Amino acid sequence: MNLQQLYKVELHQHLDCSLSYEVVTAIDPTVTHEASLRDYIAPSKCTNLADFLTRAVKGFALMQTKAQLRLVVHDLFKQLAADNTLYAEIRFAPLQHLDKGLTPYEVVDAVEKATADAVKGTGIEARLILCTLRHFTEEQSLETVKLVEQFKDTYVAGFDIAGNEAGYTIDAHISAFKYAKEHNIFCTAHAGEAKGPESVWETLKHFGPSRIGHGVRSIEDEKLVAHLRTNNIHLEICPTCNVQINIYETFRDHSIDKLYRSGVSLSINTDARTITNTNLNLEYQRLEKEFGWTAADFYACNVNALKAAFIPEALKAKLLKKLHYNYKTVSNI
Ligand code: HPA
Ligand code: ZN
Repeated sequence: MNLQQLYKVELHQHLDCSLSYEVVTAIDPTVTHEASLRDYIAPSKCTNLADFLTRAVKGFALMQTKAQLRLVVHDLFKQLAADNTLYAEIRFAPLQHLDKGLTPYEVVDAVEKATADAVKGTGIEARLILCTLRHFTEEQSLETVKLVEQFKDTYVAGFDIAGNEAGYTIDAHISAFKYAKEHNIFCTAHAGEAKGPESVWETLKHFGPSRIGHGVRSIEDEKLVAHLRTNNIHLEICPTCNVQINIYETFRDHSIDKLYRSGVSLSINTDARTITNTNLNLEYQRLEKEFGWTAADFYACNVNALKAAFIPEALKAKLLKKLHYNYKTVSNI
């Protein structure tokens, strides 16, 4: 099967962790290929999430002006086109881009305008998710979620919490998610990655997101798996990244196949194209090779991804039709 030709829906990728070598050198021509392999890509096995996240700082440093942000957005759309992406949600933490004097509003505005241009230029539909981070203060989290509200009716569509799940509690962020709920802002949250099912339960209870970033350790709790299924909580799964941060020894040990077969709504994502040195074509190839996934399985995941997307129902219906036509034509499902 030609996996590249299949349309793909990606809900979970970090803009700041997805810079190609091409854009890295466009912004900083002194970075050699060797240095980029050493500093931007993590080893295929990290000790844990905290170890993995140490690589992300390199990306932030190259995304501190409007021109740099614009270049990075267009670079990511090139990568999305190579994966034959139909729809993408792209996330970043605006407060990490203030080192050269941009205001948080200017950061979001620059990324949003570049996204609007890239959507028009490529025909790939997309939305943006603004992230707070686990180590941020309550004020920083509130500032971030208020930016989502300020950018309502633009390409900004939702709110997320990323960062080191194992290193910080959720307490400082409860009020930001409360604000999101009061303002009908779509929410997702990283959980069940560096910590177990108790972290997913806690996140669902206190943040109330419709989706969970990763959530793969939910498999360790049967009741949680049933809860996700019954309440249609969608898991944004990033298989290779999860192996890299050492949740699973090998790709074959990943819980994605079991979660999928137990009826949980889930999608296939990259998370961090640079740090993990991956793309969606590779993720699909590995799922085909290790679990025997077919076009019908990829179609089912992409349908669920679109259903869980942070977009209006009319746009979902339009994209679902395009997805169906593509899979029928390319794979005869
Ligand atoms: N978890 C938390 N924060 C992140 C991740 C992740 O997998 N990737 C980039 N930021
Ligand atoms: Zn992530």
